[in-house]
Amino acid sequence: MKNIPLMVLFLFGSLMVTGQNSEIPSSVKNVESKVDSVLSLMTLEEKVGQLVQYNGSWDLTGPASEMNNKEKEDNIKNGRVGSMLNVLSAEATAEAQKLVMENSRLKIPMMFGYDVIHGYKTMFPVPLGETASWDLEAMEESARIAALESVAEGVNWTFSPMIDVSRDARWGRIMEGSGEDPYLTSQVAVAKVKGYQGNDLADEKTIAATAKHFVGYGFAEAGRDYNTVHIGENELHNTLLPPFEAAAKAGVATVMNAFNDIDGTPATGHKVLQRDILKGKWDWDGFVVSDWGSIPEMIEHGFAKDKKQAAQIALNAGSDMDMEGGAYESSLEELVEEGKVSMKHIDDAVRRVLRVKFKMGLFDDPYRYSNADLQKEVPYEEHRQAARDIARKSIVLLKNEKELLPLKPSVKNIAVIGPLADDKDSPIGNWRAQGEANSAISVLEGIKNAAGKDVKINYAKGADHGIGERSFLMPLKINTTDRSGFKKAIKTAEKADLVVMALGEDAFQAGEGRSQVNIGLAGLQQELLEEIYKVNQNIVLVLINGRPLEITWASENIPAIAVAWQLGSESGNAIADVLFGKYNPSAKLPVSFPRAVGQEPLYYNQKNTGRPSNDEHVTYSAYTDEKKDALYPFGFGLSYTDFEYGDLSLSSEEMEAGGRIQASVELTNTGDVEGKEIVQLYIRDLVASTTRPVKELKGFEAVTLAPGESKRIDFTIDEEILKFYNVNKKWEAEAGDFEVFVGGNSRDLQKVGFSLKESKVIFEDHFEGEELNMENWNYEEGDGCPNLCGWGNNERQGYYREFVKVEDGKLIIKAVKEGDKYFSGKINTKDKVEFKYGSVEVRAKLPDGHGLWPAIWMLGNNIDEVGWPASGEIDIMEYVGRQPDTLHNALHTPASHGETENIKSTPVPGITEDFQVFRMDWSEDAIEFFINDEKTYTFSPEVKNDETYPYNHPFYLLLNLAVGGNFGGPDVDDSIFPKEFIIDYVKVTK
Ligand code: BGC
Repeated sequence: MKNIPLMVLFLFGSLMVTGQNSEIPSSVKNVESKVDSVLSLMTLEEKVGQLVQYNGSWDLTGPASEMNNKEKEDNIKNGRVGSMLNVLSAEATAEAQKLVMENSRLKIPMMFGYDVIHGYKTMFPVPLGETASWDLEAMEESARIAALESVAEGVNWTFSPMIDVSRDARWGRIMEGSGEDPYLTSQVAVAKVKGYQGNDLADEKTIAATAKHFVGYGFAEAGRDYNTVHIGENELHNTLLPPFEAAAKAGVATVMNAFNDIDGTPATGHKVLQRDILKGKWDWDGFVVSDWGSIPEMIEHGFAKDKKQAAQIALNAGSDMDMEGGAYESSLEELVEEGKVSMKHIDDAVRRVLRVKFKMGLFDDPYRYSNADLQKEVPYEEHRQAARDIARKSIVLLKNEKELLPLKPSVKNIAVIGPLADDKDSPIGNWRAQGEANSAISVLEGIKNAAGKDVKINYAKGADHGIGERSFLMPLKINTTDRSGFKKAIKTAEKADLVVMALGEDAFQAGEGRSQVNIGLAGLQQELLEEIYKVNQNIVLVLINGRPLEITWASENIPAIAVAWQLGSESGNAIADVLFGKYNPSAKLPVSFPRAVGQEPLYYNQKNTGRPSNDEHVTYSAYTDEKKDALYPFGFGLSYTDFEYGDLSLSSEEMEAGGRIQASVELTNTGDVEGKEIVQLYIRDLVASTTRPVKELKGFEAVTLAPGESKRIDFTIDEEILKFYNVNKKWEAEAGDFEVFVGGNSRDLQKVGFSLKESKVIFEDHFEGEELNMENWNYEEGDGCPNLCGWGNNERQGYYREFVKVEDGKLIIKAVKEGDKYFSGKINTKDKVEFKYGSVEVRAKLPDGHGLWPAIWMLGNNIDEVGWPASGEIDIMEYVGRQPDTLHNALHTPASHGETENIKSTPVPGITEDFQVFRMDWSEDAIEFFINDEKTYTFSPEVKNDETYPYNHPFYLLLNLAVGGNFGGPDVDDSIFPKEFIIDYVKVTK
């Protein structure tokens, strides 16, 4: 039937790998075969070794292991270690790699991981801050830069991006993620993976990425780090899993599991999450690394009695690599010998690790990422410019009264005040990799660099903030008593035209283990602010922060407020760019700022509850002492110009099932300067099979407009964005009423409504009666060439109607062999049932065996005019028995018929044992395949035209037990060729 390049599909045999080991020749290109051949050489001890990760002993991010360095070295030499973290410099990684390459039997190179969270040397804004830019390209670029600086220091794997949706400002690690929204976080996840990994993991300037922490970590109860997570299945699927699925689809090389217990099961020992969802349902082929010591921590959780049991649980649950936990190395071999961990699971884990190493090119050159010469090529100066640019794009203007900003030429005397004003360290933030201490441009320096000579800048610190040791592991002390600097600060402010106050958080107030029950301006900062306010009310408050802060007083009293997060190396210059109007602020909050910490967790995409509002009584879902909404909501941020939104309109108030409509709005810059607005699209599903949030972000667009300029913005709404994980435990769009909102933040929005129509059955055949219903079907008949020779699959048969039967509500297509020829049947719906778009569902039982193969497929009805493959071909399923239990979905287009990217092979264990439901959803945008409602493949090329996506015209259906042939495998075996393909029903809905 089709023409699949055989070598691509079937590369088996005695293939070995390239590498330093002479036993491993360089004869193949195919990664899976290479992995298999290495695996076949490995002893159990060597396999376990690949699943062990050691710390390089610097930069501890958890309790240190008991093992001394000598023992570690010996284990590395003996091939008992697969990767290391925190080994920094090209020389050091080369040295460590040498231990493996010169001593171990198989010489399987190590990977070197490190927490490169927001830059390696050049520091970018902390991820929460960077997300405020909503600039995906810039976020991809900062990851690309971080990757380059990392490889120049021997690091080839980052434990980033952190894509834990988090809605609790008390949680210190909220700084590391992208805030409260799953859609925005998913977009950032993809951008970051692309930035770190590039198009080719083997490129020496890219590094492997890690999506972490899988999963639930950001939902720690009460915002307390490492705390228990209580989350229902609905929220888990709709809110926490989507960013991980997006990262998995984007090809993230590794995933890190999480410290937390999720509904009674530690994430590290969670089989459903790791094995069934991540590796099963999503079909992701990378490996899972544990979090630091999270395997033995299952003992403290009360989930394993000792390290050995912890290892058993973790490996069986799908945690592939043990980060500095010592559990796998001490117990896995024994567990396999005792039959408590299967060799199949070990092999799967090792295969995953090897696969990533092959893709990184480590087997071609284990020292590829230990190239000290690369250092000279790193354009650090350019990187600082990029850091400045993304930093200024990340500053959110919350308030700007009295037209204080941008600073006017009439301001001749500026007081720069506050403990963070000349702090060159806090902007570097936590999780700073090799960002040098005190290396940021401070607010004061930035202002001095930007202000004209005629502007006087006077600085007074006012008070110290973080005092004593400031480091990743140690608690931070905050000054609450020493007010000795207040006097000078007040004096300085008194004389000034305007005061810039820099307040917020020390770098070590946010980050791992830095949860707080208070999120205001800690220490003496609030007091200092109020004292200064008494003498000068022209205050611009610049917040340096890693989390949303409680700033209610400031918001009521201080005329101008900007959130500058911890912006990295160029912080002060970026802040000055905004203060002096060199950059017109465009950032929007990725997380709600509360009125009071007691509102946390606080997020815009809440449920409505049964008692959303009541103007008179207390009996509704609210607080008696504070409003319930955010002080500054998700998506909020001002500009120096004004934007006016015209009326929001929809192309239709009804959307067909599988269809699409457009929401459009005209945006006008009504102010005096050019500005950029992030236009946001939200939807609400009004009535659904499970309750839905009052609003959900579904799209956004950055629009830059000159003064007076207008632009029409269109958003496409299709079923894809209406889907959610519903009562059927499936991602479905449910018919009914929806609201659409468009605006510049999640609160101030215009609203329109539409309804999604039910899908309709347009064709159905349950094969009742005694004969094939000829209103629906045609027989295709013929024998030998030319009729059957076109497809190049060694076919030797004919199709005849007597091989098609209707019996007991089933359609049966039989196959027989006579002489050296095979005979079977084929039917189609040409000229009878042809349709464009919709969902085709077929319930069928597949025969075992090989040689012939059953197929459910479709051809464009223009095939007689334009030929094949211009007509397009959609193979809903073809089952090639010689690859046991493997189903194919294939698409043929003129641009790429027969290429592997259009063919997805999905292993489905036991596929021939029972009836299965095969489905294909087809729209203008994508063709998606499912088996028993599990998605197996999506085809949606970026560019869609007649060459790449010839699927925008009617198609007809075909069913057959396909022509004899073997796809390049062994010849047809007479005894086991498939004899009966049974179809229960065919149904098409639209
Ligand atoms: C953190 C991870 C980090 C790891 C390695 C852990 O404490 O939770 O996010 O990647 O340490 O440093």
